Amino acid sequence: MELHITCIPGDGIGPEIIAEAKKVLEKTASVYGHKIIFEDILMGGASIDVHGVPLTEEAVAKAKAADAVLMGSIGGDTTTSPWYKLPPNLRPEAGLLAIRKALNLFANLRPAVLYDELAGACPLKEEISKAGFDMMIMRELTGGLYFGERKTFEENGVMKAVDTLTYDENEIRRIAIKGFDIAMKRRKKVTSVDKANVLDSSRLWRKVVEEVAKDYPEVKLEHMLVDNCAMQLVKDPAQFDVILTENMFGDILSDEASMVTGSIGMLASASLNDSKFGLYEPSHGSAPDIAGKDIANPIATVLSAAMMLRYSFDLDREADAIERAVKQVLTDGYRTGDIYSQGCEKVGCSKMGDLLAERIR
Ligand code: NAD
Ligand code: IPM
Ligand code: MN
Repeated sequence: MELHITCIPGDGIGPEIIAEAKKVLEKTASVYGHKIIFEDILMGGASIDVHGVPLTEEAVAKAKAADAVLMGSIGGDTTTSPWYKLPPNLRPEAGLLAIRKALNLFANLRPAVLYDELAGACPLKEEISKAGFDMMIMRELTGGLYFGERKTFEENGVMKAVDTLTYDENEIRRIAIKGFDIAMKRRKKVTSVDKANVLDSSRLWRKVVEEVAKDYPEVKLEHMLVDNCAMQLVKDPAQFDVILTENMFGDILSDEASMVTGSIGMLASASLNDSKFGLYEPSHGSAPDIAGKDIANPIATVLSAAMMLRYSFDLDREADAIERAVKQVLTDGYRTGDIYSQGCEKVGCSKMGDLLAERIR
């Protein structure tokens, strides 16, 4: 099979982790008899530096023309990088939000799984980490606060800023349907997370999720308030199967869930629309504090590439091979610094990519 993949290396550790994901994909393609055609595009700070904008129309067109997009990460240090002196619509993150919207990527799947081998890197009590967990965070990605009207203005001599959180029922329904569909292939439980005790948008969310649930009698639905969910994630993560939630809650809860898997460097993601097309990226950012040092963990990006093979290309065997290689490398005792524990061998980003590629079979 010929796979046309557009890559967005991006900023910070982005180019380092994308190089390792490409290594693993190339090896997978050679073992399983496929041909991959990669094309890189600029986005975020890298695009600002060349074109003055975080995303060009040409880049969007190239992304659309591919079968799937594999992304590293974008952005810089938000307190020191000159990119953050630009107007908000010209900053790196605006490029990421624009591509999500342009490609209608409303469903963001973030699987948080604790590998047995990483129980020691999980910051929770031993009886919790020993039990393990395997959840899918289903985050709505093209609505809510991220895309509502916002403004900063002066009123009666006082500065004010407004961000609006808007959802319509159709936006809620389509992500809920995806959430229940995924739950049917898993342990058939959906925890819908909202703030319905305060927000109108959450009350609509709950109502629409209840309606969708009627079509999935086998799936157990529960509602949970977001503050409680943040607490339950560290108290008893094994209770969760699918967490279904709006854009900003999902952003925050997924970073929290990532750390209980050992590190944010382990959390993959897929951003999907209603077609086979998707954008795949680790859930973490550009980690400016460790960029250029060859110490970033490339596993989240490699696992995102596996999700790409599974969801956009239906190459389940190949995706399984990548996931097995990740497990094997951990069993063999290799760790990047973020997931290191005593007795293991510490390796850099590039070496981790080599070790993963070697284990593809
Ligand atoms: P971050 O996720 O980049 O980093 C948070 C912490 O986690 C840092 O200490 C970092 O070193 C560590 N970390 C992250 N990924 C790692 C990896 N693969 N291996 C080892 N350690 C890792 O979040 P931040 O510092 O809040 O944001 C930095 C920049 O990234 C900002 O400009 C932000 O807007 C951007 N960002 C981009 C994305 C994206 O591209 N999807 C996601 C989140 C943040
Ligand atoms: C993520 C990031 C982005 C988000 C930022 C960089 C806009 O944090 O992908 O989780 O908030 O969606
Ligand atoms: Mn985030």
